[in-house]
Amino acid sequence: MKNKAVYPGSFDPITNGHVDIIQRGLEIFDKILISVLKNPKKELLFSTKERVDMIQTIFSSQEKVEVKAFDGLLVDFAKKNNAKIIIRGLRAISDFEYEFQMTLMNRKLDPEIETFFLMPNVNYSFLSSKLVKEVSMLGGCLQGLVPMEVEKKLKKKFKIN
Ligand code: PNS
Repeated sequence: MKNKAVYPGSFDPITNGHVDIIQRGLEIFDKILISVLKNPKKELLFSTKERVDMIQTIFSSQEKVEVKAFDGLLVDFAKKNNAKIIIRGLRAISDFEYEFQMTLMNRKLDPEIETFFLMPNVNYSFLSSKLVKEVSMLGGCLQGLVPMEVEKKLKKKFKIN
């Protein structure tokens, strides 16, 4: 499939910022394979299965979205899944340096794969999975920042009513 993209990340957990990027991507690409990194270097709150399941639930009615966990090189995973496009979200200038390095490294590893950057709605420009976890752990309100499914799972993890 020519117009298939992978959207990789840790998604620990998926936020409304990620959902916004996926929705924008769906206007452009025929299929998006949300690619959940199994073992990121950072410490995880949710297991691979929990992260994949939450995303699958959120996009259960969207045929153009597929969700898979992966490990190893992203470019190898993309190629194995017939995708030549990587989607990444850019929230602010502070994201740029890391994304620039990753894009050029991925291009060095596989020049046939192109990275596309999409910007989320400005309402999500401050949003990150890390902050979502912190706010949730401290009992703060996450309304409008994560899908309902994720909010429920966070409350359960942190034993909040
Ligand atoms: O949401 P994140 O944690 O910023 O996503 C990072 C991710 C998953 C895109 C990145 O860590 C990745 O692609 N990992 C796979 C390993 C790999 O291919 N490394 C070389 C690329 S620079």
